[in-house]
Amino acid sequence: MRTAEIREKYLAFFEEKGHLRLPSFSLVPENDPSLLFTSAGMAPLKPYFLGARPLFGGREWRRVVTCQECLRVGDIENVGRTGRHNTYFEMLGNFSFGDYFKKEAILWAWEFLTSPQWLGLDPGRLWVTVYEDDDEAYALWRDLVGVPEERIGRFGEDENYWPGGAITHGPNGPSGPCSEIFYDRGPAFGTPDETGPNTGSGDRFVEIWNLVFTQYDRQGPIPGPGILKPLPQKNIDTGMGLYRVAAILQGVEDFYRTDTFYPLIERVALLSGKPYEGKASVSHRVIADHIRAVVAALADGVVFANTGRGYVVRRLLRRALRHGYLLGLQEPFLHRLAPLVAEALGDFYPEMRENLPAVERQIGLEEERFLETLEGGLRRLDALLSGLKPGEVLPGQEAFRLYDTYGFPLDLTVEIAAERGFGVDTEGFERAMEAQQERSRAAMAFEREIFKRSAQVLEELYAERGATEFLGYGALEAEGTVLALLAGDQSLSEAGPGTEAQVVLDRTPFYAEGGGQIGDFGFLEWPSGRARVETTQKTEQGLFLHRARVEEGILRVGERVRAVVDPARRDTERHHTATHLLHAALRAVLGPHVRQAGSLVAPDRLRFDFTHPEALTPEELERIELLVNRWILADFPVTWRYMPLEEARREGAMALFGEKYGEVVRVVRVEGGPLPGLESKELCGGTHVRRTGEIGAFLIQKEEAVSAGVRRLEAVAGEWAIRFARGSLNRLKALAERLSVGEAALEERLEKLLQELRAREKEVESLKARLVQAELKGEVALLEKGGLRYGVVELSGVDPAALRQAADDLVQRGADVALVTSGGQAVLKLSPRAQEGGLEAGALFRALAARSGGRGGGKGALAQGAGLDPERARKALPELLP
Ligand code: ALA
Repeated sequence: MRTAEIREKYLAFFEEKGHLRLPSFSLVPENDPSLLFTSAGMAPLKPYFLGARPLFGGREWRRVVTCQECLRVGDIENVGRTGRHNTYFEMLGNFSFGDYFKKEAILWAWEFLTSPQWLGLDPGRLWVTVYEDDDEAYALWRDLVGVPEERIGRFGEDENYWPGGAITHGPNGPSGPCSEIFYDRGPAFGTPDETGPNTGSGDRFVEIWNLVFTQYDRQGPIPGPGILKPLPQKNIDTGMGLYRVAAILQGVEDFYRTDTFYPLIERVALLSGKPYEGKASVSHRVIADHIRAVVAALADGVVFANTGRGYVVRRLLRRALRHGYLLGLQEPFLHRLAPLVAEALGDFYPEMRENLPAVERQIGLEEERFLETLEGGLRRLDALLSGLKPGEVLPGQEAFRLYDTYGFPLDLTVEIAAERGFGVDTEGFERAMEAQQERSRAAMAFEREIFKRSAQVLEELYAERGATEFLGYGALEAEGTVLALLAGDQSLSEAGPGTEAQVVLDRTPFYAEGGGQIGDFGFLEWPSGRARVETTQKTEQGLFLHRARVEEGILRVGERVRAVVDPARRDTERHHTATHLLHAALRAVLGPHVRQAGSLVAPDRLRFDFTHPEALTPEELERIELLVNRWILADFPVTWRYMPLEEARREGAMALFGEKYGEVVRVVRVEGGPLPGLESKELCGGTHVRRTGEIGAFLIQKEEAVSAGVRRLEAVAGEWAIRFARGSLNRLKALAERLSVGEAALEERLEKLLQELRAREKEVESLKARLVQAELKGEVALLEKGGLRYGVVELSGVDPAALRQAADDLVQRGADVALVTSGGQAVLKLSPRAQEGGLEAGALFRALAARSGGRGGGKGALAQGAGLDPERARKALPELLP
């Protein structure tokens, strides 16, 4: 049975059981910056476990089924080593939000697995486990389903509680006992001590499905012990590993031989000429796994970066490339695998197909960059090995530095060192690696953060009162009531002068930071006092938090306040609408591959990141700027309305890269464009001007690269554009004054100055060269050994290029071996005759360095390095000639 068919059957089965089928959510969690990637089917549905009303398409759905793409990198070192570890995987799950519970979850799981109409697995091969004191689940399996007692196991919180071990170790949040279903692949896969699930060390019993009875809110210190507080409702969260089931149904031993992976494995084998077998197969697997993860993440809008999500994806790509290198693939090749990933998954994850061209380009650029770095690593390794004495080993710390900074894998280091007769301290490497992993575990710990959530008060408040009503699309002022005052983890009933608190209001005109637009600032006023609002944020559920400092009087819960947004918000609106116009103009001028990759909208500026492979030309920038300004001058109305996502898509509204689902969305549009067919229509929750004319003016300040394939524009609108222009004009004037010319003559004057400068530079160069020549002529006497003429020269104060030049001269003038030093630097050059006689510059230089205290290397006719003692080198050279 093909993987796609299993996926479809699962979704259809639970639809028949009254579930709403939702598409996979994005790999990039929405509204949850604490979580790097979606790592379980339940993660995007978390609010519904905690009690939020599950409204989809305007209806309440308490049963949902999904096939969710997930990314977990916690276990990355195992990926490739085995046939069953993945970073990117698909989790099938059925969910109940306070609807059905254990009985249905168990009965339906069994039916789906064993019924011939569905998967038709042999019931005799299925084993189950339950949480140690979950007698209810035990009885359901034994009495209702009829699983023999010897195939039901009871285990503790590490195995049968989800998240694993959460009672003792955390995380806090929704959790519960779970029941797992295992498939017995037969004794051939096991070890003698493997007598059932969670025993032995073999691969005989594979966990295929986890049924979590999510009924507790784990609370308390981490590590624990925690308290299990019953949730307001009992939920079901299940997760079935699609690829594990596919491997069983397709009768293959490892995932990588199932239909969605194997085309990738085969292509890697074809490109590298290395078959999928033996030790090399680790690399095939790493590449197949990681390219899937990279394509999926980029298709959801992640861009390569040095921090956060972009960093994880960068590391995945590098790890795959290194394994390619091990297979002999030394040119960029990963981008050529991307279409195969889109082919296998694009039917279900359409963004992979839609974004394929941009994704391929980003991968290609990133590969090129990294291969250059790898070259750097090779050079560094070469230098390190040249500095070793026979019998020494390369220190583990150095091997680790190579790995960490150049992405140079240990096995490659070991291989190259061995070729040159050196060992590597691999234990030291492992120690350094562990220390590093400790550090990054502490830093990232993101899988643990999956349940990080706002304070208890906020949740109760939300359950009681619902979200804050936002009034700021029109007004900048409104009345609201204080629902809560929070300071740190504390909930206050009042806040006096000087107190800083997060003020929650029932309704507010303050915009909460989101969609790139900064949170509003301003003040709150009530009859006896006033508080300054520094910024506004909102919780996942939509409660607005005004970060405020009380300036006068006492602010109490229940107080009615007048909330006044600072008029700077109007400048923010100018920048926000200008951002939409810019986005559309970029696509019109550069092409439809342009996609938003990040944005900042502030009162005084805007910043817009977008996918595009190269720097923009001055002409392109000018055209874009002009288009936006024409749009502004035409003074079109800006309107917005709510509509179902599907409708917005049909109308061609630009969705944020990676956005997948949301029942009703807000679409902001500009009613008219500066060119036929050019329009602006975007999904957006931000605040905007009412007519484009309000923007006033738009100027691009700067264009630069953010990472391979992503550019950044900074621009200003309205009064800020005028200030920027005024500032530039003033600077121009000041410059002209300093050069004592009128502005009109500025360019001419500058050109003259530059010419003069160039002429002087040339003069200096030729003086230097003449100096070198003079020194050479004066001193060099060529000596002879074994029929080879050699010369040693010491110069003072010249750069490496001049050193090489001098060595060349010496060879021109008849030397077979020329050694030129200056300060710490040294260059060795051989004549063709010397090379024919069997000399090699790299080897000779290293031998020389070994005797005169320096280091360096090279090959063929030229070598160079540093630190040689000139006197010792002068003596040593003839001794080293044949
Ligand atoms: N959330 C559960 C898991 O990830 C189903 O195993």
